[in-house]
Amino acid sequence: MRYDQVPNSLFQNNRKNFTSRMKDNTIAVLTSNDVKHNNADDVMGFAQNNDLFYLSGIDQEGTILVLYPDAYKKENREILFVKETNDHIKIWDGEKLTKKQATEVSGIRRIEWLQDFEMVLQYMAFESDGFYLGHNEHLKRITKNQQTQQDRMISWCKEKYPIHEYYRAAKITRALRPIKSDEEIELIKRAAEISVVSFKNVLKACKPNIKEYELEAELTYNLTKSGATRHAFKPIVASGKNACALHYNTNDSTCNDGDMILMDFGVCYANYNSDTTRCFPVNGKFSKRQRDIYTSILHCLKEGSKLLKPGINSLEYEKQMAGLVEGELIKLELLNADDVANQDSENPLYKKYFMHGTAHHIGLDVHDVGLYSRPFEAGMVLTCEPGIYIPEEGIGCRLENDYLLIKDGNINLTEAMPIEIVDIEALMED
Ligand code: GLY
Ligand code: MN
Ligand code: MN
Repeated sequence: MRYDQVPNSLFQNNRKNFTSRMKDNTIAVLTSNDVKHNNADDVMGFAQNNDLFYLSGIDQEGTILVLYPDAYKKENREILFVKETNDHIKIWDGEKLTKKQATEVSGIRRIEWLQDFEMVLQYMAFESDGFYLGHNEHLKRITKNQQTQQDRMISWCKEKYPIHEYYRAAKITRALRPIKSDEEIELIKRAAEISVVSFKNVLKACKPNIKEYELEAELTYNLTKSGATRHAFKPIVASGKNACALHYNTNDSTCNDGDMILMDFGVCYANYNSDTTRCFPVNGKFSKRQRDIYTSILHCLKEGSKLLKPGINSLEYEKQMAGLVEGELIKLELLNADDVANQDSENPLYKKYFMHGTAHHIGLDVHDVGLYSRPFEAGMVLTCEPGIYIPEEGIGCRLENDYLLIKDGNINLTEAMPIEIVDIEALMED
């Protein structure tokens, strides 16, 4: 693997926390993701199932984790099934994890080959009363035309064991994953460090008439060279009015002299992600209007991020953040103060220029799991990302950092990424 081996104490602790929340005498079965294929015999790549990774650290396809904390036999309490290699796999794909390596990565003593899963499970299944199975419970998941390994496991298990009880593993992981351990914070910091290096090199490369995809290439080069696994998501490199399309990522336009670029990008390191947004002028000098808008958003980021502390809930935070952006829209003369005073509170005027949420959990998923009805707590890592989008002026501006919540406030994990106008202009001048 590209990343330094993660201490398996992280996964051992995660399993301890997970099993302590399981009902008595139940078995959890978690599966890896599918390798995604494109046309013919090529693959788009592999991204591990994040709940399986959280509990095992295994970054290989064809993996199943079985946890049975109340098992009568001690050796049945934790079993990891991995794909057994053969001469064909060795010749075509290279090495797969040995049993010894799987133990080193996960801290699990009993490793079995995947083909023995059904038989081994059957020896334990009738001793137990129920199963916890994995399922994607992300609020924004896309299920259309997509059957996952988890879906197949649910169908298979319910057919084989129709009168057991069934429970949702994701309900436990979404309670645990929002609170990051020290090891996880180190991995997010590493992703953030790589983002900083990549961003500084983008600033150096940027000049009028460069293509957006050339700046994307600069990101890709730097993050790959730094040992990152991949982009955290397809980066947005949006110049001029492209920045007003929130999920623009074709990155195929020319960056024109006088325009501003919005770049929203993240790094995935050891499956943990950063997520940052910066804006900068194509020619290295902010125009008066770009400067004013940027200064407004920077003010919202600085003030809004102070709200990210234990005790506040997401609704209250978003309400206060919207108030900050609304105030700046009035200063920028995009909204009229009297109109705002008389606006329909169900349909506030700021939505014309600012239409998205400004904080999400980040971790193994960029939009990490966690219920937003749960007030923020120490140990959570959240983004702060206010923005203003003015298509008629060809300007979109968003700034985004990642914050670790601590007892009395937060720590900006992306502090080292230049954000002050003077610093950005100086770096672009070099
Ligand atoms: N890059 C996606 C987001 O900022 O949430
Ligand atoms: Mn974000
Ligand atoms: Mn982002």
